[in-house]
Amino acid sequence: MTFEEMARARYSVKKFSDKPVEEEKLSKVLEVANLAPTAKNAQSARIYVLRSEEAMDKAKELTPCVYGAPVVLMFAYNRKEAFRYPDEMEIYSGAEDCSIVATHVMFEAKEQGLDTCWVNFFSPTKAKAAFRLPEEEEVVLLMPIGYAAEGTVPLPNHSAKKALSDIVKEL
Ligand SMILES: Cc1cc2nc3c(=O)[nH]c(=O)nc-3n(C[C@H](O)[C@H](O)[C@H](O)COP(=O)(O)O)c2cc1C
Repeated sequence: MTFEEMARARYSVKKFSDKPVEEEKLSKVLEVANLAPTAKNAQSARIYVLRSEEAMDKAKELTPCVYGAPVVLMFAYNRKEAFRYPDEMEIYSGAEDCSIVATHVMFEAKEQGLDTCWVNFFSPTKAKAAFRLPEEEEVVLLMPIGYAAEGTVPLPNHSAKKALSDIVKEL
C-alpha cells in the first residue's frame, strides 16, 4: 500500500473486537513510533502501554472512548526534555512530539492490520494522577489499539472533508 492508500484506508474505530494484539505486532508499532522526528531530536514523548486489568480499569474510568480495545496507549511528554519556543517559554513542543509519535503509531498499526482511535476526551490531569506519572510529565492523548469489531465501518464524518481551498491559503 502506498502512503496515500493507507491514509485513505485508515479511519477511527469506535468498536473493537476482543481479539488480542499480537506481541510482535505491538513491538513493531512501538519500534516504528520511535522513528518519529521530535523537536531537536530530544524525544520528549513517552508511550505507556495499558493492558493489565488494573490499567484498563483506570483507562475506562478516565474516558468512555476505550471502545472495547484490548490495549490503550497513553502518550505523554517530559517537560524537561521538550523544546521551548524562543521568547514564548511557556509553549512546549511536547504536544507536537507526542502527536507525530502517535501518528506513526496510527499508520504502522494500519500497516500491521490493526486499528486505532485517537482520544482526547479525558482529563490529562486525572490521567497523570491515576497512573502516578512523574511531576515533569504531561499526558496528551490516549489511543485504543486492536482489531475492529466485525461490521465496523467509518463514521459518516470520516469522508466529510473541507475543500482544499478552505484550508490552504497562499500568503
Ligand atoms: C486530536 C483528536 C482528538 C480526538 N478525540 C477523540 C475522542 O476523544 N473520542 C473519539 O471517539 N474520537 C476522537 N477522535 C477521532 C475523530 O473524531 C476522528 O478522527 C474524526 O472524526 C475523523 O474521522 P476518521 O478518523 O475516521 O477519519 C479524535 C481525533 C483527533 C485527531
